[in-house]
Amino acid sequence: MPSDRSPASVGSAAPPSSDPIAEIVTDRERAREALDPFADLCILATGEGAGPPGVRPLVLRDVGSQGVGLLVSETSPKWAPLAAGRCELLLVWLSIRRQYRIRGGLAPMPEARLEAYWGQKVHESRLLDLYYGAFQPQSSPVVSRERFLEGIARLRQKHPAADLVPRPALLRGVYLVPERIEAWRGSPDRLHDRRRYSRQGALWVEEVLVP
Ligand SMILES: Cc1cc2nc3c(=O)[nH]c(=O)nc-3n(C[C@H](O)[C@H](O)[C@H](O)COP(=O)(O)O)c2cc1C
Repeated sequence: MPSDRSPASVGSAAPPSSDPIAEIVTDRERAREALDPFADLCILATGEGAGPPGVRPLVLRDVGSQGVGLLVSETSPKWAPLAAGRCELLLVWLSIRRQYRIRGGLAPMPEARLEAYWGQKVHESRLLDLYYGAFQPQSSPVVSRERFLEGIARLRQKHPAADLVPRPALLRGVYLVPERIEAWRGSPDRLHDRRRYSRQGALWVEEVLVP
């Protein structure tokens, strides 16, 4: 956390915007410029029915009016609650004293965009995505690390270069389309500015929250 005298606290003076998505896009750029290690990460929390909740970091893909882009395996435990909207996404950029909590539903990522992300993946990452469907689902227990690596080696033999690995249909590109965004703008005096934005048609209704 930056100290109250850090240059980052200057950023908290920026006025709130009536378009929270545009604000997130701008803030992410600021976080990137500040070399924030979380600029390209988010934290996904899911409600797992009667079981305990789940929480994990994911790479934050593109963000805009289309929503917040994520790449996940349909085989993973997070998929069902995510698809059902039982989730909240956290963006936290301490370098600029901003936090966003986002809820909403899912929309599919256009094929071309998903293919472009697939194109950025290195060979091993592609093999891993393939492994979930060919051998075992993501996050399932495997007999040993060696057994897992044997599976990867078999896939590597079959697909010896990155561009020979077929993109598995189980790799899902999705957008979380915000219906509710809660913004936290840190203030050096600790009376942080919190606002909740709820989508109503094309507009956002804004409420100020007690910090
Ligand atoms: C820095 C970092 C980035 C990650 N990015 C992704 C990602 O983009 N997609 C993904 O499915 N898992 C990603 N993971 C792994 C997840 O945190 C998690 O361990 C995995 O998806 C299994 O989660 P689940 O068992 O709750 O479904 C990432 C982990 C780290 C540490």
